[in-house]
Amino acid sequence: MKPTISIQPLTHPNSEVDFGAEIRYADLENLSDEDFALIRDALYNHHVVVFKDQQSLSPRAQYELTKRFDPASDNYGHGKTLDAKRSILHPDLKTVPHQPQVQVIGNGFVEEYEGLQNVQLRHPHHRTFHRDHIPDEEDYDFTRFYRWHIDAALYDLNPPRVTTLMAVSVPKGRRQTLRYDDGSNETLDVPLGTTAFVSGQRMFDLLSPEDQEFVRTSRVEYAAHPYIWMSPARSLPTGLGLYTEDRELAESDLPPIDESKILTLPMLWKNPVSGKFALQVHPSAVRRIHRADGTVIDDLATVRETVYRLQRPAISPQYVYAHDWQEGDLVLFNNQGVLHSVVGAFKPDELRLFRQCNLAASEPPVGP
Ligand SMILES: [Fe+2]
Repeated sequence: MKPTISIQPLTHPNSEVDFGAEIRYADLENLSDEDFALIRDALYNHHVVVFKDQQSLSPRAQYELTKRFDPASDNYGHGKTLDAKRSILHPDLKTVPHQPQVQVIGNGFVEEYEGLQNVQLRHPHHRTFHRDHIPDEEDYDFTRFYRWHIDAALYDLNPPRVTTLMAVSVPKGRRQTLRYDDGSNETLDVPLGTTAFVSGQRMFDLLSPEDQEFVRTSRVEYAAHPYIWMSPARSLPTGLGLYTEDRELAESDLPPIDESKILTLPMLWKNPVSGKFALQVHPSAVRRIHRADGTVIDDLATVRETVYRLQRPAISPQYVYAHDWQEGDLVLFNNQGVLHSVVGAFKPDELRLFRQCNLAASEPPVGP
């Protein structure tokens, strides 16, 4: 008899992290509607769920599992916008030719994988995004959050509900010390190449009543073509948003803008299972804040300082779940309920090969 699915919440010693679960005994190639309903509930209750030993799962099955969370969706979360060579996301993702909603990411040279040949993968390194860098001689010992984000195009397409990440190859052994370098002296011991997650629900809960009212009643307008717009800008050392140095591209330097495709979204997104709210803002892509009274915060520095003040408490070390990747791990995360960041600095010969899939949602996130 097939064992029934079991859901084990992850334990986080010496930490305040209150999310994450491991799901066992799921047959992801032949998932019944009942089993999928259990997985969906687990995803929305635990935000990050891990399936072990999924090496044999095909890109097609990964895509189908991702799509099951939103059957009316079909486009990759960034659509075809990654083709734009000036997008800051362009160098990081290679599309699986026979399953274009699935991307290969990682580090090192890969001769052949799923129809991709002779690809050079590059793990995003903070020196390509942060204004100030960890000195080269410390680079293998210390690292940063590269960029806190939601997986989302934030122009034309709705933010995906779920991202699935499969670890095919993982370099072993090393750990690094993550530094915040923002004057707080906060650090976090992390496995090499971890993916860091924080809960948007926690981010909301940590706010004062006044700030909770502010985020409940305000909306965020995202920049048009945000990943091209922000490409010359430089990140804060926490990876939580950008310095305002007037480096963003002018409208005349962007692809044509269709005003109807600019996204203005609630700051709080409702969990479809628990009904709880998560503070979900992409800190690097924000352009304006629309207040309940109809006023607009237009000054970019003020917009960024406001978002940073709201988000920074929840990325402190005690709230960060740093997943320790093992080969065969398939992680699903609630992209409308967590923020995540790439972490780490690899040596050129350290091979890391991951598959990522998410789909632009068929509906916008639901606000308060
Ligand atoms: Fe991501």
